[in-house]
Amino acid sequence: MAAAPYPDTLAADAARVAELAAIAALDQVGRGDETTADQVAVDAMRTGLNTLNIQGRIVIGEGERDEAPMLYIGEEVGNGSGPAIDIALDPLEGTTLTAKAMAGALAVLAMAPRGGLLHAPDTYMQKIAIGPGYPAGTVDLDASAQDNVRALARAKGVTPGEITVLVMDRPRHAELIAALRDVGARIQFITDGDVAGVIHTTEPETGIDLYLGSGGAPEGVLAAAALKCVGGFFQGRLIFRNDDEKARAERTGVTDFDRKYELHELVSGDAIFAATGVTTGALLDGVRMSNGLVTTHTLVMDSFTRTVRRIHTTRPL
Ligand code: FBP
Repeated sequence: MAAAPYPDTLAADAARVAELAAIAALDQVGRGDETTADQVAVDAMRTGLNTLNIQGRIVIGEGERDEAPMLYIGEEVGNGSGPAIDIALDPLEGTTLTAKAMAGALAVLAMAPRGGLLHAPDTYMQKIAIGPGYPAGTVDLDASAQDNVRALARAKGVTPGEITVLVMDRPRHAELIAALRDVGARIQFITDGDVAGVIHTTEPETGIDLYLGSGGAPEGVLAAAALKCVGGFFQGRLIFRNDDEKARAERTGVTDFDRKYELHELVSGDAIFAATGVTTGALLDGVRMSNGLVTTHTLVMDSFTRTVRRIHTTRPL
């Protein structure tokens, strides 16, 4: 068996860091203050990361150095004593969901040996994802939404009307939605949280066959890390709305603005993915407190060991 690319304790470390961020965010659920909700999760995730035996480097974080005081891109975290690890994170994936006490907010991070994660700029990304088990080339970002639905239906042995597509409810998706209606697919909408949205394509019990549409590029890399662990297909293409976004991309090393990224280009080696529920959603239960105890629900996956764990943890407050 090949040597492990990171210590076997790293998955548990990633889970603990996600849990700390989710617990910190709990007090902000339903308080209508997105900025504070994000800030407390960032603080807790950073504190947690700095206890780890890693030479950690943030490659996807809260923004560029001049715009984010903490967990900025390039920030070094960890106690500096262990392996060189790159980290992509979103301490609060679903700030609006948290502020409005809506379902599905998560604390999320991915870790990989140095160089293993694409340094995605903070722009949008066009995304397509399906679960595992389909032949290569079944769907493609370059095909139309209708052709993708038809091809997936053929591969699944059903009609296009039996395909369910998850789409973020955004005006920018009006054309996509019209095309999906036209081909007869069922559409399930989410208001936020496309990391979980992409992961749902790998969970047959959700009934979601296909994820289509655009969302954050950082969230695209995080979702790709999850699919690297659990199987499935993902492609992404960066979207630039202006020259400033192109300049951001250039600073992260992007040279080809039209490039279609395959999963193995977004996450090139093995990776660990961890997410803890802040508010209860389809993927995870939210944080709960009672009798001086706090309970968290965490999904932690490791592509090297191909392990997928869902952990309920109870600890004293
Ligand atoms: P944050 O809570 O981290 O801001 O992200 C929430 C989210 O819904 C992501 O899941 C998604 O990728 C992105 O926002 C979509 O952006 P927009 O709200 O601009 O459409």
